[in-house]
Amino acid sequence: MTFIRNLLAAGLAGPLLITAAATPDNQSDAARPAPHEPYRPAYHFTPARAWMNDPNGMVYYQGVYHLFYQYHPHSTVWGPMHWGHATSPDMIHWTHQPIALAPDEHGAIFSGSAVIDWHNTSGFGTPDNPPLVAIFTYHNEADWRSGQRPPQSQALAYSTDQGASWTKYAGNPVLRPAADQGDFRDPKVRWYEASKSWIMSLAVGDHVAFYGSPDLKQWRLLSEFGKDIGAHGGVWECPDLVPMEVAETGEKKWLLLLSINPGGPNGGSATQYFIGDFDGSRFTLDAKFAAQLQQHGPQWLDWGRDNYAGVTWSDVPATDGRVLLLGWMSNWDYGAKLPTATWRSSMTLPRELKLHQQAQGYVLRGQPVRELDALKGRTTEFPAQAATRHAELTPAGATLQLSETYVEFARPDDSSKAYLEFSNAQGELYRVGIDGHTQQFFSDRRRAGQKEFSDQFAQQLHTAPRQSQAPRISMRVYLDRHSAELFADDGATQMTELLFPKAPYTSVHFRVEGQPLQLITFKVTEIGASPTVSAAPQ
Ligand code: FRU
Repeated sequence: MTFIRNLLAAGLAGPLLITAAATPDNQSDAARPAPHEPYRPAYHFTPARAWMNDPNGMVYYQGVYHLFYQYHPHSTVWGPMHWGHATSPDMIHWTHQPIALAPDEHGAIFSGSAVIDWHNTSGFGTPDNPPLVAIFTYHNEADWRSGQRPPQSQALAYSTDQGASWTKYAGNPVLRPAADQGDFRDPKVRWYEASKSWIMSLAVGDHVAFYGSPDLKQWRLLSEFGKDIGAHGGVWECPDLVPMEVAETGEKKWLLLLSINPGGPNGGSATQYFIGDFDGSRFTLDAKFAAQLQQHGPQWLDWGRDNYAGVTWSDVPATDGRVLLLGWMSNWDYGAKLPTATWRSSMTLPRELKLHQQAQGYVLRGQPVRELDALKGRTTEFPAQAATRHAELTPAGATLQLSETYVEFARPDDSSKAYLEFSNAQGELYRVGIDGHTQQFFSDRRRAGQKEFSDQFAQQLHTAPRQSQAPRISMRVYLDRHSAELFADDGATQMTELLFPKAPYTSVHFRVEGQPLQLITFKVTEIGASPTVSAAPQ
C-alpha cells in the first residue's frame, strides 16, 4: 500500500502542496481492527471480552508489571466483580492471565492494591520468597441493599508463585467499618520505612481514612483527611498516597490522588489531587497548595471526561524511581452504554507523573511512559510557518487512527483560538485546542462521531485551565481508534476523551480563528499496534 504525504498550508502566503514519494506501508496486520470490533484500541489495554472498570493491584515484581482490574466476565455491563489479571514487561505489551480473584461467601471483589511483602511481615511467604499480597474490598450486595450490616470490608489474598495463583486469607475480612458506614473501600497500601509499617489509604464516603499495620492483618485507624477539602458532591473513591520529589527544588512532598463520582470538572467521574506532607500517621495539606485550592478550586489529574480511578504502580524499583499511573478510560455517566459489543472499556496510556512547582503553585504533570516510544514509526512533518491560519496533514492508510500528533505554536492572543481538528470523509470532526481569551484548553467531541448512546456523552465543550504561562504552547495528542489523550505544555494539562467516529479520521488540520500565529512544529507520528496476547483461556 502506498503512503502519501499531503502537506497543505494556507497561511498568509497562500496554499502550498507537497506530495512525498510513495513508500511501502509498514503497519502490520495487527494495526487493522477486526471488522466486528472497529473501536478496539491497538495499543491500550482492553479485556479480551466483557466488562472492565478500575485498574487494581498494580505491582511490579521480578521484571513484570502486573495489572489486575475490576472485571465482570459474564457480561458487558458491571456486575459481581472479579479481579482480572494481565502482565507486561513494559506496560505496553500485555498478556492476559487467568482471573485472579472471584467472588465468594463474603461478597464481590472490589478495588484495591497489591504489594510485595519484602520482609514477609504477613507470614504468607518466606524471607527467601516474599509473598505478593493483594488488599481488596469485599462488597456484599445483599447487605448493601438491605442496609442491615455494613456491606464493605477489607480483605487479603496472597501469591507465592509470582502472581500465577492466589489464595484468600482464612482470617478475612481484616478490617470492618463502624456499624453505620456504607462506603468503605479501595484500600491502597504502601510500606512506610520510617515506622516499619504498612499504611492503608481508604475511601470512606466523603473522606480518606489512613490505617496502619505491622503485618497487613491487624489495622489501626491513624487519621482522617478531607471532609471539607477539595471537590465534594460525589462519593470519594480510589485514594493513593504517593511520595514525590518537587522537580525544581528536590523538596519531598506527598501526593494524594482521590477519585470522585460524580463531581468531575466536566461532569461525572474524575480524579482530583492534593499536595501535602505525611508524618507516618497524618496527611496535612501544604499551605501553598491550600491557597491554590482557595484561589483556583479543585486541582484535577486529568480534566477530560475519561480518566478515572487511576492509581500508581507499587514496588517500582528505586533504581527506576518513576511514579507510574494507569486509569480507567471511561466515566460512570455513560461507561455501560459505550457502543462496543464484545468488550467494554480500556485503560488509559500508562503515564509517568512528576510534581512541579510553577508560578501559580504545584502542578502535577503526566506524560506517557517512555516505553511507548518503541511503538513509534514514521513521522510526517509540516514545515514551520511564520504566520499561519491553517495547515493540514493527511497521512494515508490507517496511520492517523493510531498516531501521535505534536503541534507547537505561539500563544494565541485574547481574540483568537488555535486547535487541532481530526476529521473523516463523513464530516465528523474532533477539535482539541486552546482559547486565547479564556486561556483554557478545550476538547470538543460534539461532532466527533457516535454520541446517541448516551445524552451525557457529548452535550458540551469540555475545558481545562492552562497551567503554564510560556509564550509557546505544545500539544501532544494520541489517537487510538476510540480515544484521544491530550498532553499539553509537557503534560501540565491532560485531557483524556473517548471518541466513536463512524469512519477513521483521515486528516488533521491545525486551525487558527482570529489572528494568524507562528506555527513552530506540526507533525504526525505513526504508532504501531501492541495487541494483548492470551496466555490462557479466561
Ligand atoms: C470506582 C469504583 C470503586 C469500587 C469499584 C467497583 O470506579 O466504584 O470505588 O471499588 O469501582 O467496581
